[in-house]
Amino acid sequence: MDLLQSVDLAQLPKHIAIIMDGNGRWAKEKGQDRVYGHHEGVISVREIVNTCAEIGISYLTLYAFSTENWKRPQAEVNALMELLVNTIRREVEELRKNNVRLHVIGDFKSLPEICQKELNEAKELTAANTGLNLILALSYSSTWEINEAARNMVADALAGKLKPEDIKGDKFHEYLNTSAFPDPELMIRTSGEHRISNFLLYQLAYAELYFTNVHWPEFRKQNLYEALLNYQQRERRFGKTSEQIQTNNPQHV
Ligand code: FPP
Repeated sequence: MDLLQSVDLAQLPKHIAIIMDGNGRWAKEKGQDRVYGHHEGVISVREIVNTCAEIGISYLTLYAFSTENWKRPQAEVNALMELLVNTIRREVEELRKNNVRLHVIGDFKSLPEICQKELNEAKELTAANTGLNLILALSYSSTWEINEAARNMVADALAGKLKPEDIKGDKFHEYLNTSAFPDPELMIRTSGEHRISNFLLYQLAYAELYFTNVHWPEFRKQNLYEALLNYQQRERRFGKTSEQIQTNNPQHV
């Protein structure tokens, strides 16, 4: 049965974030090289992006390369950068057709120039699209992002544009790399690890966390629907009591 029939399309999260884990382990189980797993992972990326666009998700953030991933063997890093360039080049037309707008978060300048060029072109070509916002986290970690935010805050303070008493509520959020996007309501991690791994630490404060043992190269739309069904069974309280939520939101009763 297509699980989509059971998903309440009126109660979808606006923003889904995914830690795409398990490419290496999946490839090893198949007796293949880790890079084979990354190549197969692109097939899942395509299916999940298209599905999110189709069902009306507004934001999808994919953790594609972390600051820490630079420490991997040089051959794997090179293969991942090459895969990124080739994938963007090949898929940009599909993104345009599906009304998907591309964004990138992370330490952009640390990426090879060819990646920067390809990503900038794809961002420009999709800038007018109004459907799904696809946010690729590349050379990203929350440590990097929080350091950047703090550095920019100090610079603004020194320039007289920010006072200590201004720092309250959503002020810090304005300095994050993700300031233009709402925070994710659902974070999915594949491949059985129960960690956040320096991903959107500030933004995931109230996100529902969903972990699955499925490796990323096998994660397909039915797996996404499973995650959405699980999300829709959760009661999101934001610090309030269950009774308060049920009074304000009778469909939870
Ligand atoms: C984690 O698996 C995956 C990555 C570090 C890279 C993710 C990249 C892709 C899915 C392909 C390229 C993406 C785009 C957007 C074009 P792992 O290598 O850590 O797996 P392991 O934990 O089993 O070793």
